[in-house]
Amino acid sequence: MRIGSHELTTNLFLSPLAGYTNLPFRLTLREIGGLGWATTDLVNARSLLEGNRTALKLVASAPEDRPLAIQLFGSVPEEMRDAAIRCEELGTQSVDINMGCPVRKVVGIGGGAAMMTELGRTAALVRGMVGAVKIPVTAKMRLGWDDDNLTAPDLARVLEDAGVAAVFVHGRTRAQGFAGRVNLAGIRAVVQAVRAIPVIGNGDVTTPEAAKHMLDETGCAGVSIGRGAFYDPWIFRRTAHFLATGELPAEPTFAERMRVLRRHFERYCEFYGEEHGARLFRKVAPWYAKRFGPAKTFKQRIITITSRADFDAAVEEYLRWRAQFCDEQGELLPRFQPAPMQASFMQDETDTPALQRNAIPVPKGPVDVW
Ligand SMILES: Cc1cc2nc3c(=O)[nH]c(=O)nc-3n(C[C@H](O)[C@H](O)[C@H](O)COP(=O)(O)O)c2cc1C
Repeated sequence: MRIGSHELTTNLFLSPLAGYTNLPFRLTLREIGGLGWATTDLVNARSLLEGNRTALKLVASAPEDRPLAIQLFGSVPEEMRDAAIRCEELGTQSVDINMGCPVRKVVGIGGGAAMMTELGRTAALVRGMVGAVKIPVTAKMRLGWDDDNLTAPDLARVLEDAGVAAVFVHGRTRAQGFAGRVNLAGIRAVVQAVRAIPVIGNGDVTTPEAAKHMLDETGCAGVSIGRGAFYDPWIFRRTAHFLATGELPAEPTFAERMRVLRRHFERYCEFYGEEHGARLFRKVAPWYAKRFGPAKTFKQRIITITSRADFDAAVEEYLRWRAQFCDEQGELLPRFQPAPMQASFMQDETDTPALQRNAIPVPKGPVDVW
């Protein structure tokens, strides 16, 4: 598939996840493979123009981090236009506009989900951005403000007329937050509303089968994965293979999970500095541990690290402790293996508590209302 003039290697996208989709994470995912396109965390347009340090860190990239879109939020047309120009100067491949964020700070200034409610104003803002840059401009939205205002199909049509190159649709309303299941019929309505631009579906894709289900049910051109990527960084590679061949590849081995965990950690140290990187990694490592089987000592130690040495010691201690759950080859005994991930669309009321526990919670913190 294409976004503007960019030919993508797969139709699998990384959804922006504020606090997670930083350069170290994107490079880790790209090295594993299968990822066709990534987007930064959302960046305040004005902060970017002011050269704010945090904003510059959010847009930091590298030659291997391609293709990349910077996601902007804001509501002042001139600022959004100038920020788009700034993104183009930085060498990014695309600019994405956040129209889905339900956080009060963003909606309060007329950005994020508030943009879904004023189509005329939003179209004018978008036209200003599209006209100012050569790179494609895309938009990410929810289905609407609430169930009585499912504006996404109308908005998508208006945006297409204004010149956006693609739209990303998270199949929930702003009022819904993260509750309930993603509404595939709602995404399908957006696919049917546009004339030619690709619609990329998003929400609850946590397995290769769930990605295929979304493509089949909605007719969307691609699938964007958020929480499923930090739960399972291999999801893009496994999904790309599944979509191409119909075969589900094996889950990565424990050794491979540890290798990638170490690479990811080292990138954090390089990008943020050792101490800060180690502290930030405390919220990343537990996601890997969810697929380790027994991991109590790891989870306890890893949330105290402040250096590379702490990290190494936590891993070494954990590996020694884990041996008691393994056979002579070092493989986890079957009874200790974690339950396989099951996509929410396959679950029903008869599902076991173990499977329900597998649902990916929205991380706590300032973004827990996304
Ligand atoms: C912690 C967190 C941070 C998020 N940050 C952003 C963001 O910066 N911009 C955005 O458009 N969406 C953001 N989202 C929404 C995701 O991009 C995505 O639309 C949503 O999580 C549904 O997809 P998923 O079920 O694959 O996670 C965030 C979601 C979470 C859980």
